Amino acid sequence: MLSDVDCGALGVVEQHRWDLMKKRKSVCGETYNPDEEDEDTEPRVIHPKTDEQRARLQEACKNILLFKNVDEEQLSQVLDAMFEKTVENGEHVIDQGDDGDNFYVIERGTFDIFVVINNESCLVGSYDNQGSFGELALMYNTPRAATIVATSEGSLWGLDRETFRRIIVKNTAKKRQMYESFIETVPLLKSLDLSERIKVVDVIESRTYQDGERIIAQGDKADCLFIVECGDVRIAMRRKSMVEMEGGEVEITRCGRGQYFGELALVTNKPRAASAYAVGEVKCAVMDVKAFERLLGPCMDIMKRNIAHYEEQLVNLFGTSVDLSEPSP
Ligand code: CMP
Ligand code: CMP
Repeated sequence: MLSDVDCGALGVVEQHRWDLMKKRKSVCGETYNPDEEDEDTEPRVIHPKTDEQRARLQEACKNILLFKNVDEEQLSQVLDAMFEKTVENGEHVIDQGDDGDNFYVIERGTFDIFVVINNESCLVGSYDNQGSFGELALMYNTPRAATIVATSEGSLWGLDRETFRRIIVKNTAKKRQMYESFIETVPLLKSLDLSERIKVVDVIESRTYQDGERIIAQGDKADCLFIVECGDVRIAMRRKSMVEMEGGEVEITRCGRGQYFGELALVTNKPRAASAYAVGEVKCAVMDVKAFERLLGPCMDIMKRNIAHYEEQLVNLFGTSVDLSEPSP
């Protein structure tokens, strides 16, 4: 998981990353057009693997978001093309400013992330035995945006630039087309510009829930934000005084298409303030907390204003004032 290390400059880092991206885009003007890229003219890359290697590779790749949209045949081509790379403690896997050659999935090992800000190399995060990196230079045709240094001996799976662009970037472009009109209708994202909304699409994952299924449990630790794509979501809360009551929960509100929930715990850094249940079949776009912090800064005002509205709602329902910044019972 990518964990941020506070160097007091995360906002600056992200701004820097954005500026770099925007600048590069306008300098080289190179955006990806899925219909223009050569499809099958290049020979397929295949790195033969033992059954044991393939099993380890599959395990390492099972939660990689960028691989989730590709079909079975394409995934098999991706896995064929991946190669194992062992690293030593202290090894630079990627250096900021270089051209992008490979995307990497971590099988094991810890890695630090450094970004140069105001001529100083700043530690902005780390990976601990899982996750992936090196996608930005390949997706947006930019130089490497960070330096990645191994802080232990470890093992990575690399995917070459050509295969990454032929399969993964092409699928990302399809995902953008698919979500384009939906994302325009989400009020929360209105303050983002187009390129920022595209980034949001690139990081969201669709999840489906059956009627009655609990999506969020009150009191749980939070790790993502939800935007309703279709169906209705019932938000319900239990208060200390209600624990003895049947069910112990009162419905507070419902969220429909385009509305969001699950942001409160991410904003306040508290456990989930309420539970959320699917009403009928529900599909949500889910964004993890790292992407939330990285991409939704400009939407923070809207979310904070809404917290006051939640508190009002709770006063109307329960008759007493509620401080949502207090941990829930
Ligand atoms: P890329 O730019 O190809 O190479 C460096 C990688 O570091 C980058 O892709 C991301 O995958 C990863 N990374 C993680 N955190 C950051 C960050 N804050 N800024 C830039 N890159 C980051
Ligand atoms: P979170 O606390 O992360 O998880 C439960 C979610 O329910 C919460 O974020 C809000 O998005 C949503 N919610 C809707 N109405 C309220 C309310 N009145 N009080 C608290 N949470 C609410």
